[in-house]
Amino acid sequence: MASITIRNLDDRAKELLRRLAAANNRSMEEQVRVMIAASVVDAHEPTHAQETEAVLHQRPLFPASRSSAVSGLLSGKRILLIIGGGIAAYKSLDLIRRLRERGASVRCVMTRAAQEFVTPLSVGALTASHVFTDLFDRQDEHDVGHIRLSREADLIAVAPATADLMAKLAGGHASDLASAVLLATDKKVLMAPAMNPRMWSHPATQRNRAQLEKDGVLFVGPNSGEMAESGELGPGRMAEPLEITAAIERLLDTRPRPLAGRRIIVTSGPTHEPIDPVRYIANRSSGKQGHAIAAAFASLGAHVWLVSGPVAIPDPAGVSTIHVQRAEEMRDAVEQLLPADAAIFVAAVADWRTEGAADQKIKKVAGDGPPLLRMVENPDILATVGHHERRPRLVVGFAAETQDVLKNAEAKLAKKGADFIVANDVSGSVMGGDRNRVTIVSKSGAEEWPEMGKDEVAARLADLVAEKLNTIVV
Ligand code: CTP
Repeated sequence: MASITIRNLDDRAKELLRRLAAANNRSMEEQVRVMIAASVVDAHEPTHAQETEAVLHQRPLFPASRSSAVSGLLSGKRILLIIGGGIAAYKSLDLIRRLRERGASVRCVMTRAAQEFVTPLSVGALTASHVFTDLFDRQDEHDVGHIRLSREADLIAVAPATADLMAKLAGGHASDLASAVLLATDKKVLMAPAMNPRMWSHPATQRNRAQLEKDGVLFVGPNSGEMAESGELGPGRMAEPLEITAAIERLLDTRPRPLAGRRIIVTSGPTHEPIDPVRYIANRSSGKQGHAIAAAFASLGAHVWLVSGPVAIPDPAGVSTIHVQRAEEMRDAVEQLLPADAAIFVAAVADWRTEGAADQKIKKVAGDGPPLLRMVENPDILATVGHHERRPRLVVGFAAETQDVLKNAEAKLAKKGADFIVANDVSGSVMGGDRNRVTIVSKSGAEEWPEMGKDEVAARLADLVAEKLNTIVV
């Protein structure tokens, strides 16, 4: 490894470097290497020396956020992430990346136990800033005090939130930096609990959760599933980094919420119509467009009920999702959700099902040939709701066509009692793909939208429905 010669540093810079190196138990040369590595990782971020200077001069604590690769919803937002001690702490590393991708700057406090699972070095490298670990560390020039740490953030996220951290805050303890910061803050606190299912369901933890909720603490998760360490099943898995990110985006989103108080139903995905216990009839729908539409309505403040067929994508955050398999189950779920302000039918519902699916696997019998499947028609869910006595004010359908797109869409508008039909040509790679090209057909004509991402189609459709719902009819 090439050696590094340090030249042209004035006394003050040298002293800073010496103190930084001592605080990190490094030689001065090692410290310079770390600083160079950090500035190579992200040239937009301040070096440790710049950061130290900022602290000494009481400049804002958070590093400049970098431009977002995904979306800038968190652009300029400062997140203080408290990492508790649990196996899920490894997911916090991904959480930091997700938050920074979206434009946030992230500072971290790690509890002593957290450092048993991930190192301050990795957390520091990913946040490109100093990691805070001690309540009183006068040796450390980064010691800025818990009050300043807790106030100079837009939101505090605790992930993983252990039973211990929850108990400390519920009981008002401030015995370490993490709990002191939580007690001193005047900002929103979002906890992502992670613990063994028995610990989560213990009356003490549930009592603490109820108390924290009463005190205004917000929660995301825990999810149910298999525990990494014990293989036990049950609630206790930390919410996924993208779910936590979405929850943070929602909490910090100050955009107007034109659909606050509205109830929206969305269907999505394919349906599976069983032939026997192991075989079914399906189609290529991925659920991407329907799920994106549900998320877009939620971001406008609506309470969204998503009735989803079997898909391989996660439930959108902030949406109540009901999982179904068959068209009849989808119809029942939708009818039970009525009344609603609007219903958007995106699901590619199977038009037919086999009459009386076999209870046992159909066997090949030599000489009998293939079985004859008798098909019967499935209920048309859009048409049922379009003509329902509790019909939502706005009913929107999709028309998946491979030919005569407009003509077929217009016919479906009338036949199914919809206000709008979103027509798309599915002869290409629309099903399963990320882009879509649609035409909005209504009684007053057809409007062609240019090709765009499914998220953008969703956002524009949600805006259109919001505008219609909020138009006062005199
Ligand atoms: N739809 C529904 N229930 C069904 C079939 C379709 O709710 N059993 C809805 C879809 O969610 C979509 C619209 O009706 O909003 C049109 O679906 P599409 O598959 O394009 O048309 P179909 O009515 O199935 O007619 P066809 O297959 O003959 O084009």
